[in-house]
Amino acid sequence: MKRIGVFTSGGDAPGMNACIRAVVRTALYHGIEVYGIMRGYSGMIKGEIVRLDTTSVANIVQRGGTILKSARSQKFMTKEGRQQAFDQLVNHKIEGLVAIGGNGTFTGAMKFEEEFGIPTVGAPGTIDNDLYGTDYTIGYDTAVNTALDAIDKIRDTADSHDRAFFVEVMGRDSGYIAIPCAIGGGAEIVLVPEQQQSIDTVIETLQTARKRQKSSFLIIVAEGDEEGNATIVANKVKEAIPEMDARVTVIGHIQRGGAPSAADRLLASQIGIAAVEGLVNGMRNVMAGIVDRKLVYTPFHDTIYKKKLINQGFMRMVEILSV
Ligand code: F6P
Repeated sequence: MKRIGVFTSGGDAPGMNACIRAVVRTALYHGIEVYGIMRGYSGMIKGEIVRLDTTSVANIVQRGGTILKSARSQKFMTKEGRQQAFDQLVNHKIEGLVAIGGNGTFTGAMKFEEEFGIPTVGAPGTIDNDLYGTDYTIGYDTAVNTALDAIDKIRDTADSHDRAFFVEVMGRDSGYIAIPCAIGGGAEIVLVPEQQQSIDTVIETLQTARKRQKSSFLIIVAEGDEEGNATIVANKVKEAIPEMDARVTVIGHIQRGGAPSAADRLLASQIGIAAVEGLVNGMRNVMAGIVDRKLVYTPFHDTIYKKKLINQGFMRMVEILSV
């Protein structure tokens, strides 16, 4: 393999830059040319492809966001879009790809490989940590720390005013951010998409805590919880406990930005090296990940369709520690 492309796709995540840097430098180390594809599949279709050298990735290991930019491309979901992307890769003589992203990114890569045979190795880059085949995804650790920092501040004001705060954290299909935030932030309740918990249980838990003279409360809601987002949950609770002074905070995209933590820089660098070396060794349609501290390559099919389960022990911890 003489020339590869690298791109970031889907929601950005802190550490993506560290991963790009590792991909570029590992490729150069192995004598392979590297091209950066801007704006994910969207830039691949349009031919927004630029040569990267070692200085292109200098001074980015510590920066949030992604120098290659990111996008969610509707056009790549069509055969016509994928054909255009393939033509662009052929024009640029790109023989293999490193795709940094999440579920949607790998679904696209799998389809692309099926149709056009371009080998791709994936790097798990998403704050959601919802990918099977790696204990942690790039950006997750930073996002949890960012959310937790905000939650600590909310706790201060909640305590001063004897209020309940319903705090929404990211995670469309996953409670991976919500759970450590609940444990680390001392929340009374956590609501996650992976586990059904009725509003009645939430109300009962809050009523019991109020009887014990607790005066401030934190309820962490993952945005994809089936009872609804934090605003919906808060409204339902306020109907049942009108005397409770409640507020809602949506932490939002702050969770996606900022300098990556040490853990994310390390993970991103490890995975970036592994992705290129996987390609060099003839791998395709797999994601590089770390499971039990060991490097593993998991087929895209499994990363997409196998469900990474939440840790039930952690859910129990929230219950015990909020007594
Ligand atoms: O996949 C990462 C993520 O941040 C999810 O947690 C969230 O639901 C989604 O992206 C938001 O996407 P967008 O920035 O496109 O609104």
